[in-house]
Amino acid sequence: MTRHLLLSGLVALGLLGAPAAVQAAGGEQHVHDYSFSFEGPFGSYDQSQLQRGLQVYTEICAACHGLKFVPFRTLSDHGGPALEEAQMRAYAAQYEVFDPELDDFRPASPTDHFPPSSLSNAPDLSLMAKARAGFHGPFGTGINQFLRGIGGPEYIASMLTGFTGETEEMAGTTLYENEAFGGYMAMNPVLLGDDVEYADGTPATVEQEALDVAAFLMWTAEPKMMDRKSAGLTGVLFLILLTVLLYYTNKKLWAPHKGKGKGPHA
Ligand code: HEC
Repeated sequence: MTRHLLLSGLVALGLLGAPAAVQAAGGEQHVHDYSFSFEGPFGSYDQSQLQRGLQVYTEICAACHGLKFVPFRTLSDHGGPALEEAQMRAYAAQYEVFDPELDDFRPASPTDHFPPSSLSNAPDLSLMAKARAGFHGPFGTGINQFLRGIGGPEYIASMLTGFTGETEEMAGTTLYENEAFGGYMAMNPVLLGDDVEYADGTPATVEQEALDVAAFLMWTAEPKMMDRKSAGLTGVLFLILLTVLLYYTNKKLWAPHKGKGKGPHA
């Protein structure tokens, strides 16, 4: 029992890889340590990258995967892809949702969520960037996670670029070998390069598309990351100020008692 508590404590602290990630690995994983704009205490999401990622998600991933925890309206949020209100409404209206009140389908409105996965074995991607860890080592201690973060977006980008080309037939389905997944997976290599045409003229290489959609999925999993970082920073600045003020208060309060002959009791 104690051992179990200790273990789950370590997992919670990020010292050990989460069991799910270890399970998903199944073999040797190779995750590339990409650097993203949102890393580090001052990092922030790159709005154009999130918009490109949304495009990749919409045109490619959404054929199988869902984002059922993400409401369309958040696409306009500051710190996210920040689509214009009208753009976001038009984006939502491309989707149809079933309305029990109308007893019919209607175009989605901003308060509706992205649809769930349409392919039953394709997992929902809303929280995937936080559900997968890219870095575990050395020796499964997870010390890497302290230095480089849990590596969810690195894992997703590495997975999308990590197909080896090897396939395997199993019970009538084809499985595709993937270096980041650490074995054979049921998803085929969906990014081939030039799969989308970016409005901002960025060349749509496989790696670029993978990085953009990985950044977008980090945002869906952690939309308030920027707010959290700035609140943390404000907190630290406040504590520094408080330390200085308390230092002088302490000095002033004790000055009369420090035998300098200035106080009433000297
Ligand atoms: C043709 C359908 C299809 C498309 C398109 C597709 N996927 Fe998948 N995806 C799957 C299936 C099926 C799985 C489950 C694989 C498994 O567990 O073996 C999966 C699994 C995943 C996983 C989880 C891997 C893991 O560690 O368990 C991620 C992340 C993912 N897909 C991301 C994407 C992204 C990003 C895109 C768009 C660039 C995309 N997928 C496009 C079918 C698809």
